[in-house]
Amino acid sequence: METATLPEAHKTGGLIGAEIRGLDLTREYPDETYEAVRQAWAEHGVIFFRDQHLNEEQRERFATKLGTIRVKQELRKEPEQTRAIGEGWHTDMTCFDEPPVATMLFAEEIPSWGGDTQWAGMGPAFEALSSGLRATLLGLRAIHSNVRKLGLSYGQTDPPEPSIAEYDAAEGPVHPVVRLIPETGRRVLYVNPEFTMRFEGWTRRESLPLLRYLFEFGIRPEFVTRFHWAPGSIAMWDNRQTWHFAVNDYQGQRRVMHRILLAGTKPIPAA
Ligand code: SIN
Repeated sequence: METATLPEAHKTGGLIGAEIRGLDLTREYPDETYEAVRQAWAEHGVIFFRDQHLNEEQRERFATKLGTIRVKQELRKEPEQTRAIGEGWHTDMTCFDEPPVATMLFAEEIPSWGGDTQWAGMGPAFEALSSGLRATLLGLRAIHSNVRKLGLSYGQTDPPEPSIAEYDAAEGPVHPVVRLIPETGRRVLYVNPEFTMRFEGWTRRESLPLLRYLFEFGIRPEFVTRFHWAPGSIAMWDNRQTWHFAVNDYQGQRRVMHRILLAGTKPIPAA
């Protein structure tokens, strides 16, 4: 076991993202080191590590220090496949009652160009809205569902866009539109373009103008950070307070990542 080392966080954007330096994740550190990593991730929304060539056991050990593993999978896009998982702004699995608290992505094989990922910070986005709109959103809840079924595999084409009636009938958990991040006390916008169907008690048609406004507002460049991967890079994002987007611009090349989702809890509404 190494002696306690506190990670250094170097911001990658003014409002979201930080690169963590000073740790070698093939080694094991005392709990306070992992606690500092968790705090950096809650503060910055997404954190990045470079040059960490972990095997499966080391990846799982690192993940287990930070939470409970809920899903682990390989994301492999072969040169002949055209679609990418996650090529649309989304938050992972908000169609579940207890969406994952965090997602970790470990890069194994990276194309020689492209294949970046972007994240948008829903803390800064919420804080930049007018006080009137913030007050309105604080009183709302929204229905989340996976009726759009986008980005499920690298090989398939998109399913057809559901009808308005299908959106209205979609069933799923009802989450607060603004959720609290207990570690920082921050209030963050909690809707996303893939899974948020409509506001509770509103129809899809009534919800769409406001949802569309939030979906456009949330990706203003100042709320977004973009990461260029190399083998051994790791990104770990707070799935409670970010959207992400896998940029699918590397046709004809292979990209292999390992993804681990950490179990979350029911979103806490912000007051
Ligand atoms: C995802 O949406 O989790 C995939 C992100 C990526 O492959 O860059």
